[in-house]
Amino acid sequence: MKVLIFGSGGREHALAWAVARSPRVTEVVCAPGNGGIAQIARCVPADLKDVEALVRVAEAERPGLIIVGPELPLSLGIVDALQERGLRVFGPTRAAAMLESSKGFAKRFLQRHKIPTANYAVCTTAAELEKAVELFHPPIVVKADGLAAGKGVVICQSRRTAIEAGHGLFTGALLGDAGQQVVVEEFLEGDEISFLCLTDGKSVVPLVPAQDHKRIGEGDTGPNTGGMGVYSTDAMLDPHMTEWIMHHIAEPTVRGMAEEDTPFSGVLYCGLMMTARGPQVLEFNARFGDPETQAILLRLESDLVDALEACIDGTLGEISLRWSPGASACVVASSAGYPGSYKTGLPITGLSDAARVPGVQVFHSGTSKLGNQILTGGGRVLGVTAAAPSLEEALMRAYEAIALIEFEGVYYRRDIGHRALKRKP
Ligand code: AMP
Ligand code: GLY
Repeated sequence: MKVLIFGSGGREHALAWAVARSPRVTEVVCAPGNGGIAQIARCVPADLKDVEALVRVAEAERPGLIIVGPELPLSLGIVDALQERGLRVFGPTRAAAMLESSKGFAKRFLQRHKIPTANYAVCTTAAELEKAVELFHPPIVVKADGLAAGKGVVICQSRRTAIEAGHGLFTGALLGDAGQQVVVEEFLEGDEISFLCLTDGKSVVPLVPAQDHKRIGEGDTGPNTGGMGVYSTDAMLDPHMTEWIMHHIAEPTVRGMAEEDTPFSGVLYCGLMMTARGPQVLEFNARFGDPETQAILLRLESDLVDALEACIDGTLGEISLRWSPGASACVVASSAGYPGSYKTGLPITGLSDAARVPGVQVFHSGTSKLGNQILTGGGRVLGVTAAAPSLEEALMRAYEAIALIEFEGVYYRRDIGHRALKRKP
């Protein structure tokens, strides 16, 4: 079978790597891909913002399975367009992807279905915003309604700064694009968990949990990024808590979407805060996480293609996933200056030495290939990922490998997973 993957990041590299391991797969094509993906798949140019162009790629390739990586094409209706042409695609329709593409939609949905989440108000005017802010105690969380690549959330220490942030989102001063809706939300405290599930619209199968590190700086300081590293262990969630999250969050979400005639199939990514009152939904994503996918897929022993096909065919109820016990960790190497501006086109060395460290896979997030030379091509450049019997060993392997990699200004956090290590008895 030929598999086509849309996207160009570390998530897509990990997906391509996992798909290529399936004995059923004869060819992997990625549009547009990156320098690392090009080593295991055929890359074809594509603009992820242009649904018609992506459809043309799919029609030319006629793959047996299409996987959509990023949120933007999902929110633009790529799945609907491919389904209309009779193509087999893994991912939610545009209406279902609104769980990610509109925070206002997601919050109202959560409330309608009594799924635990922070108290909130959805505001459409500055006057509504000012009134809503009065009802919350600082710190107050102010969120853009639409997709914002992790930059749409402001945590405000006073009502005045919350109102300023809301105004900034309405006028476009904060994100560039003016927002129609702004969500004001109660501040939640606790550990964050990325709880990803596969679903065919009826059955829900959890993947192993992961914890992302969103801030650029060590000790969770500095601005938010797309994710600087992640780890996954069995100990992160005990079976009782996993069952609670399935029964109170993941399954009611999938059931609610089906009841509302917008059945959700694909990956339901529940971004959870583990608060003193129990798990609460911070956000939904309608896709695999990045860099969560790199760490999660390194632990997957089952055939990913079988599982994704079951989501398309409505047969996920017959599937159970096998995972390697132990742990995995991914440390992201980024360009100097990220998440602000940064240089690209810098040569990277040490990649093959890093890949030889036992248990390590080097997934490329933002790279390009010029002849045989791999160059930097994004803010997040590489996700050095390792699996091992324990989290300590997985981190040791990932850090041993990343130390072998060099490009001008390379930066990575030295404390990925450290909070989990400290918590251990
Ligand atoms: P989101 O895009 O909604 O996941 O928000 C991005 C990040 O902002 C989350 O991963 C949290 O770290 C933080 N965040 C979002 N909502 C809240 C909240 N209600 N309380 C505390 N932190 C939050
Ligand atoms: N790692 C966060 C995300 O994929 O949205």
